[in-house]
Amino acid sequence: MDHFNYRNGELYAEDVRVADIADAVGTPFYCYSTATLTRHYTVFDEALAGTDHQVYFAVKANGNIGVLATLAQLGAGADIVSAGEMQRAIAAGIPASKIVFSGVGKTAGELKAALAAGVHQINVESQPELHSLSEIAASMGVTAPIAIRVNPDVDAKTHKKITTGLSENKFGIAWEQAESVFAEAAKLPGIDVVGVAVHIGSQLTDLTPYRAAYTKVRGLVETLRGQGHDIRVVDLGGGLGIPYDAENPPSPAEYGRMVKEVMDGIGCKLAFEPGRMICGNAGILVSSVVYLKKGVDRSFLILDAAMNDLIRPAMYDAHHTVIPVNEPHPGDNMAPVDIVGPICESGDTFARERLMPAVEAGALVAFRSAGAYGAVMSSTYNGRDLIPEVLVNGADYAVVAERLRIESVMDRERVPEWLAAPLPGDMPREASG
Ligand code: LLP
Repeated sequence: MDHFNYRNGELYAEDVRVADIADAVGTPFYCYSTATLTRHYTVFDEALAGTDHQVYFAVKANGNIGVLATLAQLGAGADIVSAGEMQRAIAAGIPASKIVFSGVGKTAGELKAALAAGVHQINVESQPELHSLSEIAASMGVTAPIAIRVNPDVDAKTHKKITTGLSENKFGIAWEQAESVFAEAAKLPGIDVVGVAVHIGSQLTDLTPYRAAYTKVRGLVETLRGQGHDIRVVDLGGGLGIPYDAENPPSPAEYGRMVKEVMDGIGCKLAFEPGRMICGNAGILVSSVVYLKKGVDRSFLILDAAMNDLIRPAMYDAHHTVIPVNEPHPGDNMAPVDIVGPICESGDTFARERLMPAVEAGALVAFRSAGAYGAVMSSTYNGRDLIPEVLVNGADYAVVAERLRIESVMDRERVPEWLAAPLPGDMPREASG
């Protein structure tokens, strides 16, 4: 459920006409709903009621500080994967004591920054990282609370680019090496091993792989305790899928029940890192139709949004439902169109042969489910602006990211001195003749 609905024939974001925002900020733009963010966070958190737990929102899904501040107020912590995301989370009011630092390639500089800030937990993913963190923490005279991320070798049955829990994936410590790495970690200075972490992939639409991975993790916790480790935290990652099209992912309640079943009586604090589930359906991307081009075999709806604004269809063949901002009439003719952007490559295609009601040049359309991995993955490819992001709250809205115009992007670029200086051939010459 979200809060983007038609009222009197027009699309609203909560109580704001989407067309009014378009008039104010220009298209394309992202639009997020506070009510939807709040609902999704609350539903997820409540599904875990009765367990000792903390939800760390995966900042990678949507790092906008307006969105993060909204979640911070609800009590969310942050799951970060870079020092940059840490800065965002802290700027949005999430204290370091509610930040978990994940990621396969944290640099020494990032580890230092995280320790200096006093983050709650660092999820270590390799032996070299473990040793580097130990040296850094010892040299700073602090102790790093760590969970070790293990790779359970379970197929999450999701798109191959977002599967992370198979032994062939780069993530986590191989299952076979887990016990020895825990033993090694326990002996290192500057390290306090608090827990086990796991994350098997994103956009999971079935509980079976979750159950398999979590059951393995539970077994590991018991084995580790038997070996003398004081395991206090189990970090169960993120990955719960959302409906983009016909998917029917498990509800947070079903997920919560499975977690409680598998982790019953484990005596650990449970950590969760949901991203998409919280913000995916809390955002739309609004765009204008530039042209409707009728070809011989196909018709093309050419938009002012492109793959640089929303790369998911090009990168993962992802489906995003596209709806006209003016509500179609029930009996309207539907015809197949390719929905494309203006970028000069065929990959800049949002949908092929999608059945759409007739829309004309100038009309507004909205991509649903664009609140996760949308704006955060955008770029300025083809000399395009980074588009504005707007957060709606009831009848109010605020621009939470301004348009970054190409002039500002160009501000960081320079013509090198050797080109700026006059070339020998340009030296003034004596007039001849
Ligand atoms: N925790 C870790 C360690 C992760 O790697 C991820 C996502 C999450 C949590 C959050 O997963 P979520 O609940 O959002 O599924 N760009 C891709 C998704 C990449 C996910 C990467 N890791 C997409 O657009 O589908």
